[in-house]
Amino acid sequence: MSPKNYKIAILAGDGIGHEVMVEAKKVLATVSSKFQIGFEFDEKLVGGAAIDATGEALPADTLTACENSDAILFGSVGGEKWNSLPPEKRPEVGALLPLRKHFDLFANIRPAGVLSMLKNSSPLKPEIICDGFNFTVVRELTGDVYFGEKKLTKDFGSDLMIYQKSQVERIARVAFELARNSRQKVTNIDKANVLATSQFWRSVVEEIHAKEFPEIELNHLYIDNATMQILVRPQNFDIILAGNLFGDILSDEAAQISGSIGLQASASINSQKFGLFEPMGGSAPDIAGKGIANPIAQIGSAAMMLEISFGELAATKSIKKAILKTLESGCRTADIFTGFAGEKKVSTAEMGEEITKNLE
Ligand code: IPM
Ligand code: MN
Repeated sequence: MSPKNYKIAILAGDGIGHEVMVEAKKVLATVSSKFQIGFEFDEKLVGGAAIDATGEALPADTLTACENSDAILFGSVGGEKWNSLPPEKRPEVGALLPLRKHFDLFANIRPAGVLSMLKNSSPLKPEIICDGFNFTVVRELTGDVYFGEKKLTKDFGSDLMIYQKSQVERIARVAFELARNSRQKVTNIDKANVLATSQFWRSVVEEIHAKEFPEIELNHLYIDNATMQILVRPQNFDIILAGNLFGDILSDEAAQISGSIGLQASASINSQKFGLFEPMGGSAPDIAGKGIANPIAQIGSAAMMLEISFGELAATKSIKKAILKTLESGCRTADIFTGFAGEKKVSTAEMGEEITKNLE
């Protein structure tokens, strides 16, 4: 077998992006030698750092590096310094939205859940968490009000909410396929009691369900009700399917009830399984440079990259197991430290080293 070699565009970005990326690279270096997988890193500027250096959040040189790579491992972007720029020029919108559009990264996969050993970190009551929960938000990423026609005058502002049939079909398939490998249940979230876009969305989801995935259980919830149900009965959910805007809101809620946003990894992929893999949380400028950020979301994002884009399942499993083992041993960065017996407060680097040591 010829040795495998993957080219990865590393866009660490701003804030804690660099600190947590260092740890993800440590883990990948060890995975490389243990599993004979080659990784070639191409490190590029993005977000605020790129604005400072070039005037643009996504410089052409960074985009070219992404085009020439097998996957993008993204850190986080943004910070106070760039908040006065017009929205479309800011690090988050100016970098992420064009990357999503350029590579047609339509499927945003955001797993959420509470591990039994981290139950104390979730803001939910123990009687709601019970033995924990896990579900995955599947969010459409290339349509909706994000990319519909925008108008801004001094008298009005408008964003067109629009979905094409093909866009709904392909994201619905992603959700149903994930459900096949999970607990066979999809909850579709929309606002079909008010919005024509949602009525259309729901009818397409039902069509795909009936034709291609009749064995999967399909339920519908309105977005307002869904935000409540997730808080009171998180165990009821397996795969949550939503459009761009509702999925954005639900994935923050999901990340928050999971204990810490510093734990949550995510993937944004296209139909070729090329993807951008990033922590769900932001650049956290308030804790940047202090060495206390949780690197697990970044390391978990690297694991999702190995799984989804490269199909390196053994390596993926090894990373996931190492994260669990490290948490079981009591290691806690500040965001998940609760002071219970057996917990040990560790730095970003110590958490990364411990996970690296635990790779099997
Ligand atoms: C996210 C973010 C982005 C979004 C912003 C930064 C444009 O909130 O990835 O969820 O709204 O999609
Ligand atoms: Mn968001």
